[in-house]
Amino acid sequence: MHEKSIVLLNQAVAEEVTALHQYMYFHFHCDDQGYDLLAGLFKKIAIEEMMHVENLAERILFLGGDVEMKASQDVKKITKVEEMLQLAKAMEEQSALDYNRWANECGNHADSVSKRLFEQLVVDEERHYDNYDDEIENLNRFGKEYLALQSIERSKARGNAAGTAQ
Ligand SMILES: [Fe+2]
Ligand SMILES: [Fe+2]
Repeated sequence: MHEKSIVLLNQAVAEEVTALHQYMYFHFHCDDQGYDLLAGLFKKIAIEEMMHVENLAERILFLGGDVEMKASQDVKKITKVEEMLQLAKAMEEQSALDYNRWANECGNHADSVSKRLFEQLVVDEERHYDNYDDEIENLNRFGKEYLALQSIERSKARGNAAGTAQ
């Protein structure tokens, strides 16, 4: 039943796994560079993508398929913050576009539950898009000072923690 949906749902799993890997890679590098705020944002969204994999997997198994835990793409080794945010934004845009199309395809072959799942994912991907867009906006407005502030906040937090430890 619903073979076509199973294929589409697995394609979505592959996109989600790619996003999860890519955002965790960005998380590691933002953390390494001292940008706590952005590191936190990438991790938070990566966890949401992992939850998307879970939602898709449940539907695939319900339909009698199996979950292909393959990534659609390899991680891109980007370490400049501006380029990270541009890639992340483009990935969210692509996912929203794909899921809108796939929701319609599921509707066309009378699988309204998969259709609704894709529509729910679009809501989240558009929110992620917006989050990344806001960060790009901050970078454009405040430039390097925006990143410097994040490093200073970390140093302050460490200084305070050291102070209380004494
Ligand atoms: Fe997602
Ligand atoms: Fe997303």
